[in-house]
Amino acid sequence: MNLKDFFNQANKEHWAIGHFNVSNLELLKAVVEAAKEGGSPVMIGTSEGEREWLGLKSAVGLVKAYKEDWPNIFLNADHTKSAEVAFDAVDAGYDSIHFDGSTLSLKENIDETRRAVRYAKSKNKDISVEGELGYLKGDSQLTNKKIAITPDDYTKPEEALKFVNETGVDRLAIVIGNIHGINSDEPELDFEILEAIRKIVPKHVSLVLHAGSGIPDVDIKKAISLGISNVHISTELRVLFRDGLEKQLKDNPKEYALYRLEKEVVGSIKELIREKMRLFGCIGKVH
Ligand code: G3H
Ligand code: ZN
Repeated sequence: MNLKDFFNQANKEHWAIGHFNVSNLELLKAVVEAAKEGGSPVMIGTSEGEREWLGLKSAVGLVKAYKEDWPNIFLNADHTKSAEVAFDAVDAGYDSIHFDGSTLSLKENIDETRRAVRYAKSKNKDISVEGELGYLKGDSQLTNKKIAITPDDYTKPEEALKFVNETGVDRLAIVIGNIHGINSDEPELDFEILEAIRKIVPKHVSLVLHAGSGIPDVDIKKAISLGISNVHISTELRVLFRDGLEKQLKDNPKEYALYRLEKEVVGSIKELIREKMRLFGCIGKVH
């Protein structure tokens, strides 16, 4: 099954595919092993910064190698801010593109997203393309910041319909109170807006909830029941990796073969991913 098939299944059965960001082999290993052990499809995200660090070819090559063992993993070029950078990811062999034109005007966002969709589909008929509408604030960091969001930042249902019709995206990232990172206040999701968006946007377009870190489990569950079929998580993995590694280094001052210390850290990240997968309802969905 390709990514679109899994999204069709998820939309029909009301569960969500997990999307986990990685910037190194350790995080990638944790995601792939958790997905394989859980019998789940999974998306592996690399933001522009993460894929610059990994290298486009290396990211594609690593995922290709892991696919031999568990084919249900899909590499996404997350938060791609320009069409040209999206083209590079398509050419490198990514399975999915997230074109993020959310800082552009609606017209420019539509024009640039459409350009990314056309290019991607002309090169790979199985590729899945996501667009974004609304002002999604914050960074994938642990902070004490208070991030204020206003109703104007939210995705507007009428604009969402126009956007998906005119761009041809397969997925739409929406803003309903979600904020990237773990910040001082717990994010509060506006479920009425989610319902209105799901009602107006055609069923074949999947709705994506970014900024999943820090959103209470009950709210994630409710969002999935109302039509979210893809949830992004990054900050929680970053925090666990950094804190876990720091503890290992402190506890083992004479160990220089770092992979030995990383084993335990990867194990705890895998456990977190498994918990998220249980929450998303995607365990055992690969038959
Ligand atoms: O695209 C990445 C995600 O939206 C990650 O958000 O760091 O809040 O989990 P997060
Ligand atoms: Zn995001």
